[in-house]
Amino acid sequence: MHTLARRNISNTPHKNISLLTAVLPSIPLEDSTIDVVISNCVLNLLPDEHKPQVWREIYRVLKVGGKVIVSDVLARKELSEEMKLNAALLVGCVAGAALVEDVEKWMREARLEGECPDFYLGLFSWSNCVK
Ligand SMILES: C[S@@+](CC[C@H](N)C(=O)[O-])C[C@H]1O[C@@H](n2cnc3c(N)ncnc32)[C@H](O)[C@@H]1O
Repeated sequence: MHTLARRNISNTPHKNISLLTAVLPSIPLEDSTIDVVISNCVLNLLPDEHKPQVWREIYRVLKVGGKVIVSDVLARKELSEEMKLNAALLVGCVAGAALVEDVEKWMREARLEGECPDFYLGLFSWSNCVK
């Protein structure tokens, strides 16, 4: 993954990009150091017990006024156990989808402020969410 990322970076004029590997929900960055957290289709893959923590970590690393831009798959109703245990649905980012209201609760508990996520082309996204 880093090889591809490095190649993509080398094709840009930017010299201030660095790569860091992390296993979520931990984010190995200092408190209040990040302007924008961007994530696409990753948080649904975390085990359920780690999902609230990743929102606390996002809050912790953001500067005051920092922004969260997340796009992910969420569920409007509880998935069946059969769906949750289906490996194809897991790698397809469906089996791990959290309930919309749970994510809103975790964000509120983490003290992130924002509007309800927008639903767009099958994905929920947050772009007005700030510390
Ligand atoms: C569906 S891919 C999305 C990749 C990329 N964000 C994109 O939009 O193309 C999911 C990614 O989440 C990563 N991932 C899954 N669980 C993770 C965890 N606990 N910590 C960090 N990354 C994780 C996987 O390695 C994979 O690269």
